[in-house]
Amino acid sequence: MSENAIKQAAERIKSAKLAIAYTGAGISLESGVPTFRGSSNSVWNNYDPEDIEISHFMSNPRKSWKTINECFYAFLKENEIKPNAAHKVLAKMEAEGLLKSVITQNIDCLHQAAGSKDVIEFHGTTGTVSCVKCGKKYPVAEVDLSQEIPSCPACGGLLKPDFVFFGEGIPSDAYTRSFDLAREADLCIVVGTTGTVMPAAMIPMTVHQHGGSIIEVNPDESAITPYADIFIKTGAVDAFTRLAQELGL
Ligand code: APR
Repeated sequence: MSENAIKQAAERIKSAKLAIAYTGAGISLESGVPTFRGSSNSVWNNYDPEDIEISHFMSNPRKSWKTINECFYAFLKENEIKPNAAHKVLAKMEAEGLLKSVITQNIDCLHQAAGSKDVIEFHGTTGTVSCVKCGKKYPVAEVDLSQEIPSCPACGGLLKPDFVFFGEGIPSDAYTRSFDLAREADLCIVVGTTGTVMPAAMIPMTVHQHGGSIIEVNPDESAITPYADIFIKTGAVDAFTRLAQELGL
C-alpha cells in the first residue's frame, strides 16, 4: 500500500469542511467480528440469511433466534469483542474536529465503545431488543436472551433485536440524517464495505455525486473503488494507525 495514499488522505482530511465516515463489517474484522461476505468464515457462508428475514422471523422465531444468538449475541459475549485502532482513531478524529459523524452499517456497537459520539446506525443495533406486541424496548443486558424464544418481561410478547432484518425498512431518522449529511459532506472516508447493499451504498455515492471526495480503506477492491479519489489498499488497523501518525493524533 503506498505511503503516498496515506499522505494524500491526511492532507484531504485536514482540508475538509465536513468529513463523515461510512463503515462496514471490514472495520470490525480485526476486532474478531467476521464479515458477512468474502471469506470462508463470513457470516453468510455459515448461516442462512433467511433466518434474519422479517417474515421468516415472525413465522419461525425459534429457528431465527437460534441463528441470531449464535451469529451475534453469544458470539459478541463469548469473544469479548473490543474496538480496534481503526474505531479508536475515528473517535479521536471526531474529538479533534476532523470528523463530524460515523454512519455505520455495523450493529456491533464498537464505534460507540471506542468513544465516537455521533454514530448513525444505518442498520440498527444489537444493543437493544423490542417487543413486537407492546413495543417496549430493552437494553439486551436487561432481558434473558438464552430462552429459545426470548419474551417481553412486560407482556410476554416476542422480542426482536433492534437491527434491520432483510425485508425491513431503514430506521427513518437514521436514513434522513445519513443522506442529509451525505449531501453536505465534502469528504467521506469509506472503511471496510463491499458497497453492494442498498440503500446504504447510496451514501458514499451521494457524497460523490454532490462533488465530495471519497477516501476508501479496504484490502480489496469494492463497488465503491471505481469512484474513490484515494484508495488505501490495506486493512483498517494498518491504515488508521498510519493516518493517526500523519495527522498527529
Ligand atoms: N479492513 C478493512 N476492510 C476489510 C478488512 C480489513 N482488515 N478485511 C476485509 N475487509 C473488507 C472486505 O474486502 C469487504 O469489502 O470488508 C468488506 C466486508 O464486506 P461485507 O462482509 O459485505 O460487509 P458490508 O459491506 O458491511 O455488508 C453490508 O450486508 O448483510 C448485510 O446488513 C449486513 O451491514 C451488512 C451489509
